[in-house]
This record gives sequence, structure tokens and C-alpha cells, in this order.
Amino acid sequence: MNSSRPRQDPVFSPHADVSGLLRHLDACVSPAHAVDYCATQLRLAGFQEISFSKLGSHLPDCGFIADSGLLLAWDNASENFSHFRIVGAHTDSPCLKIKPLPDAGNFGWRQLGVEIYGGILSNSWLDRDLGLAGRVVLSDHSVALVRVHEAVARIAQLAIHLDREVNERGLILDKQIHLMPIWGLGDPTEGYFKEWLSSKIGISSSHIVSWDLGLYDLTPASVLGSDSSLIASGRLDNQVSCWAAIEGMIAAKTRGDTSTNCSVVALFDHEEVGSQSTHGAAGPRLQWLLESINAGNEKSFHEVLSASHCISADNAHAVHPNYPDRHDPQHRPLPNQGPVLKSNANQRYATSPESAAVFIESCTAADVPYQYFVSKNTMPCGSTIGPITSTQLGIPTVDVGVAQLSMHSARELCGALDPLLFTRTLAHYFIA
Ligand code: CO
Repeated sequence: MNSSRPRQDPVFSPHADVSGLLRHLDACVSPAHAVDYCATQLRLAGFQEISFSKLGSHLPDCGFIADSGLLLAWDNASENFSHFRIVGAHTDSPCLKIKPLPDAGNFGWRQLGVEIYGGILSNSWLDRDLGLAGRVVLSDHSVALVRVHEAVARIAQLAIHLDREVNERGLILDKQIHLMPIWGLGDPTEGYFKEWLSSKIGISSSHIVSWDLGLYDLTPASVLGSDSSLIASGRLDNQVSCWAAIEGMIAAKTRGDTSTNCSVVALFDHEEVGSQSTHGAAGPRLQWLLESINAGNEKSFHEVLSASHCISADNAHAVHPNYPDRHDPQHRPLPNQGPVLKSNANQRYATSPESAAVFIESCTAADVPYQYFVSKNTMPCGSTIGPITSTQLGIPTVDVGVAQLSMHSARELCGALDPLLFTRTLAHYFIA
């Protein structure tokens, strides 16, 4: 582990400090909201928006495509660039999604039918005031971004008096029965949710065709600890990486890129459910973009790909002080000690010795410390978009991310300095 203390970098201090990250976390309450928010940051920085249908034509040097939960952005130094530098992350987080026919209830309580999205920590969703956010598709096929930032629903835990052994036996929650939110009183009426939604967003219910809506915790992101060294928020996995990728790209552009590469940021949807979708990392759209960017290049696509490199950015598990046995004794990442390189001999992470070396070079250039994570041998290893993008594109990829606790909880915890260190590293990566 490199334990040198990070210095302030006059060039690559992100133009936004941690308050910028807090704003990002509070705004990005669904994949579509994350894409919308990042698109606004890119527009302000001079990136030009196009749609997927325009990929065949001449692309702007500096542009982006925002499409529901997927965002692709690029900053091309010159037409005859030598290689891609790609940072991939994901916009989705485990949550509860509203079913197509959600009107349910029992014994005079109105309840919402929800589907579990991804690997949630079920207990973390109990007794929270929940808002509603996502996309609604209208009868003319247009899409409306929807956010009801009010205490709409709540999953109420059973009282201790009616569940006396819960603290000794552990909490067991049936995903179909026990996670059904309450959202009022009355008998369930078909169409009630749609009428309510219509009144909230000011669109006629006959115009609302379908939706991708999820519940989210209303509590805003906060700086935490006696020394303000931590951040608590929903969706740290993986909004921290989305934020760092976009901020890093903008910082590299602002500095005036003199390199010969093409920087790319790919923020995918559906990582938490396996990435197998049009807008997920296993879909074809990143490759569409790379081919299109390379269309005017004298170098062949394969020549450029062979010289390229990818960072798969996703959070890592910090060692938990109450459960230190869950980590390998030599690999116990800590908050605010820099980004974590994740590797796995069985290729659950894409990191290779060569791809790791490129990332370490960026950390050194940025004067940022780094750490290592390897699962202990008795613990199954997680995975992320790294192995998928590297398998599809054949580009050496390194899996890295900020250390955190409570991954997949409705409210997670990470260091307040790490997102800034990661951003600075990515800014240096983009210019190399
Ligand atoms: Co993740």
C-alpha cells in the first residue's frame, strides 16, 4: 500500500469540492436522473449533445449522447488520435421499482406493488420516508423525467412486541410479502396509482402509457463524523464513480488536453442486474460510439483498440471495524486512503498486471495513494462491468473504485476525501 499523504494539486483540484458531490447524489435519484444531471454538467463545459441516430455522421470533437439510463461522452484531441482512454461506471443502484399494476392493499391499508431491483439490503429500506423517481413514457412515445420528492410511501417494520425474538433470531423478510410499502388508507382501486401520478406530474392519465419508476430514501446526502471525514448517502455505489468520471473528464478538458488520445466516459444502466440490456455494459452501444469516433482516423479501429485502456470504476468494500474477518488480512482498504485496485485470479474483476500498471501510473502522476482489494478465499467475489467491457472490446481493463461500507444499503458510507482523490486520478488518466 502506498501511504504517502495526498497533496493539493493546483491543476486538477476538481472545480467542484465535496459539496458538488453532495448535490450530485441528491439529484441522481434514478438512472435517468443521473444521466440528466451529468448531461447538464457536460453541456455547461461545452460538450455538444447528439443522439444515437446521428452516430454515422461527423461527430463533434467533444460531445455526448444521453439516452434514458445510459450516457456516453467523448473528448477527442485530434482526428488521428492514437488510442482511447475509457472510464466506465454504472448509473443504477438496487431499489424497489413500481410494478405495472401496483394497486394493492389489505385490511384498509393502501399498498404499492413493488419489484425488487438488484441485490438490496432489505432491512435498510424499513421505516424510511420514500419518494418516487424515474421515467414515464407517454402516448406520443415521448419520455417524461418524473420526481415526486415527498414522503409518498414507507415499509413499516413489525413492532418488537409482535416479534419478540427478532434481535436474537435475526430479521427475515419475505421479498414478496414484507417489503410492500404502505402509501395511505383505503381499499385498493385499480388505476388509483396512475391517477395519483397524473395529478402529481400534471399529465393526463390517458396520456401515461408505461413507466420505470423506483422508490428512493428522501434523506439528503450528508457529511458525517467528528472530523467530517465521511459521507453518508443513498446510491454511493455507483454515483461516486459517475461523478468522478464526469468531473475528471471536464477537469482534463479545462486544462487543455495536449495528448493524442480520445477520452471516453460510459455510464451504463443495469449493472446491478447483470448488464445484459440495450443500455447495459453488455449491450452494443459503446462499440457503436467507438467505431463512429474512429471513422475519420487514418489508423484502423483495431490498431487504435490495441493501444487503448479502460478503467471500470465501481466502489469497493472498505474493511468494517465490526467485521474485520470478512477481509483478507493483507487487503483491508480504508476510507480516504485513495482508490482501490480490485483484482481476482478467477477473472471476476478484469484487472491484469498490465492494466493495473497504467492506473498506478495515473495515481503517481496525480500524487494520489492507492490500495488493493482481493476477496478472501472463502468469500465469493463480486463482479462489475470491467470483465464485460474487456471481453466485448478486447481492451485491457482495470477494476478500481472508492472504498465504502454498507454497499447496497439504502444509505451507504464512504470517505469524503476519496471521491476527490479519484477524480484527480481520472483527470490525469484522461490526458495520458
Ligand atoms: Co456498483
